[in-house]
Amino acid sequence: MLSQNETPLTAATSDLSTGAAWMSGKLMPVSEAALPVTDWGLIHSDITYDVVPVLDGAFFRLPLYLARFRRSMAELRLDPGLSDQDIEAVLHELVAATGLKKAYVAMVTSRGVNTVPGSRDPRDCRNHFFAWCVPYIHVIRPEIAEKGAHLHVANTVCRIPPESVNPKVKNYHWGDFTKGLFEAKDVGAESVILLDASGNVTEGPGFNVFAVKDNTLVTADAGVLEGISRQTVLDIAREMGLAVEIRPLPFSEFLESDEVFITTSGGGVAPVSRVDDRIFSNDAPGPVTTALHKAYFDWAAQPENRTEIRYPDQSL
Ligand SMILES: Cc1ncc(COP(=O)(O)O)c(C=O)c1O
Repeated sequence: MLSQNETPLTAATSDLSTGAAWMSGKLMPVSEAALPVTDWGLIHSDITYDVVPVLDGAFFRLPLYLARFRRSMAELRLDPGLSDQDIEAVLHELVAATGLKKAYVAMVTSRGVNTVPGSRDPRDCRNHFFAWCVPYIHVIRPEIAEKGAHLHVANTVCRIPPESVNPKVKNYHWGDFTKGLFEAKDVGAESVILLDASGNVTEGPGFNVFAVKDNTLVTADAGVLEGISRQTVLDIAREMGLAVEIRPLPFSEFLESDEVFITTSGGGVAPVSRVDDRIFSNDAPGPVTTALHKAYFDWAAQPENRTEIRYPDQSL
């Protein structure tokens, strides 16, 4: 799809190792990638995206991320104009150009710019696929995750109802999360967990939430993104013989858990040692969480979960 001579930059003319983007068939430093101010992705949050991690030179569980991205686009009636194979080729080219072995790789389709002046009809927009890649991002910094993160449960905002914005479609409607993050930062917490309107635990900005009680994992069944890391933990739990319950998790029950952890493509399994005043597992990562954290990276090393990046031949 993208021929060599369409690539405007080479490693010699620009250092892409701090991040690169692919837009309209061109590679560029991520700092130079921009959207038109009239793009509906920007002015109406009419956009979806996905993020696949690169660990040790390979995409982790790439087919699951591509399938979720495709489902999100179908739900929003967005057409990237590319097949999954084309998108995969773009992602390879992008990561290879940066040379990064551990990366955060975003694929995005925006509604784009309306091609009919004054039209308010989304069908008149030219949908726009692009992708970008930066060094790996941890949702909870490793030095904090090591001791267990302190999280806050928002009390001035709840999660946008799924009847209004479908959380299974990965989206940029982050008004609720951002308000919650300000609350969390104001009380010195690392991040925030949002409840739904009925007081059940949902998710946080960039992560799903799990409770562990008597060696049983509990995570929300609805009102959340079906995280690929959440899925990985559920798969690992099955392999480890841990019981799993996917159902509404009332906040009162959540506070009675033995352990709490979050799952995210930005760090895998991250322990939570405090939620506001409640201290879990002696203020440290709990044993089930620690085992799952290790198992996540063991899974990332298994050949069947890896799609090796096609880096340019280093010897050339
Ligand atoms: C709202 C939300 N929930 C959960 C997650 C975790 O999903 P995944 O494990 O696929 O990264 C994310 C990831 O960005 C997210 O934005």
